[in-house]
Amino acid sequence: MIHPRLTEEHLAVQEAARSFARNELLPGVTERDEFAQFPTEQVRKMGELGFLGMMVSPEYGGGGMDTLSYVLAIEEIAKIDASAAVIMSVNNSLVCYGLEKYGTEEQKRQYLTPLASGQVLGSFCLSEPEAGSDATSQRTLAEDKGDHYLVNGTKNWITNGNSSSISLVIAQTHPELKHKGINCLIVEKGWEGFSVGKKEKKLGIRASDTHSLMFNDVRVPKENRIGDDGFGFKFAMNTLNGGRIGIAAQALGIAAGAYELALQYSKERKSFGKPISEHQAIQFKLADMATRITAARLLVHQAAACKDAGEDYVQAAAMAKLFASEVAMWATIEAVQIHGGYGYVQEYHVERLMRDAKITQIYEGTSEIQKIVIARELLR
Ligand code: CAA
Ligand code: FAD
Repeated sequence: MIHPRLTEEHLAVQEAARSFARNELLPGVTERDEFAQFPTEQVRKMGELGFLGMMVSPEYGGGGMDTLSYVLAIEEIAKIDASAAVIMSVNNSLVCYGLEKYGTEEQKRQYLTPLASGQVLGSFCLSEPEAGSDATSQRTLAEDKGDHYLVNGTKNWITNGNSSSISLVIAQTHPELKHKGINCLIVEKGWEGFSVGKKEKKLGIRASDTHSLMFNDVRVPKENRIGDDGFGFKFAMNTLNGGRIGIAAQALGIAAGAYELALQYSKERKSFGKPISEHQAIQFKLADMATRITAARLLVHQAAACKDAGEDYVQAAAMAKLFASEVAMWATIEAVQIHGGYGYVQEYHVERLMRDAKITQIYEGTSEIQKIVIARELLR
């Protein structure tokens, strides 16, 4: 696959995201991390600027852009604020994408339009206390009661858990059919029996809100099921393939952000009478960082281009996420090292990026799960 060329439009989106990140996300990013404050005002502006429904058709309030534009924007936003990047990624690629691709016309009018235009946020609820990597082991039940489903169970680790108004909830309807008996239901926040659990205290992406969600006899009308009866697991997997491209771009942004800070710092900091950038040990770190980040970017862009071209992108997405997340973790540790003691304290940003990097190896399928997905594609 040839590296896709960026058009004038792509460069304009990249510049818009870069400028938004510098002007709107950078101020206060350290405090939002320290106090685990959700970036309410910044997310509202992201919605106004079209960053929350970038790939959705304008007919439903979106930007009608391609996946390449989307990953360019996420990279720029994650360079500055990885929490904002995950809020954006979940809304765009897990919620809006799934609704647009598989929802009915009525579901799109009612739910997709406010989500894509940024009036409300969405969440994607697959993981449970006993079902993370082993996602087919869904315990949340959606009993078929004729004209509605009765939902009971708990979802864990839900990004946008408190701030979302619309949740896509994966639940088991026919346990005897295993993953072919699972459904995805659209659930509104205020519905009776739906409650938000405690906020998780996290190592990184601390400004994003991660909550458990509880369902106690929640009545969900049948017309809120996405796709045919039993399509829910396939829905989740197909949607996650695109989500993994978004998280790969987030990881890439974290790595690139840390690299840019380290490069700049290495020219300013002096030791033994010269800038540390003149020590070969530091030069080699920078060379390795730039090389691996470029390789990660090529994989991310390739996965986006495969999706845009209508090709199968399961493997490309898993490879991009696997590689970019490993690069993010490694490069942020190197960036802290290049900063020395200053890298270990808050004001130089790299310690936050290092903490933020770790989650990209865990959510939307751990690195081990990405390897399972890649190997299955290779051996198919
Ligand atoms: N794309 C499309 N379909 C897929 C798929 C993929 N990437 N992976 C699996 N499937 C399909 C299979 O084809 C199969 O369907 P059929 O029976 O119709 O052929 C079905 O799903 C079940 O697959 P397996 O038999 O392979 O099931 P398994 O239990 O052995 O393994 C798994 C499945 C790949 C490990 C899967 O459970 C998985 O991806 N786990 C990770 C879960 C995950 O990514 N969670 C993320 C939650 S969201 C999140 O994290 C958001 C956030 O943080 C911001
Ligand atoms: P486990 O599945 O218990 O895995 C534990 C370890 O065992 C991992 O290293 C894993 O790779 C390894 N392992 C498991 N099975 C295998 C195997 N077959 N082969 C080799 N190794 C294996 N979920 C959502 O649905 N929606 C969200 O919005 C969401 N947001 C999240 C936000 C945060 C901050 C966090 C921490 C998680 C979020 N998640 C979300 C959940 C996330 O997707 C899961 O944590 C992840 O899929 C791993 O599941 P688990 O935590 O149960 O780990």
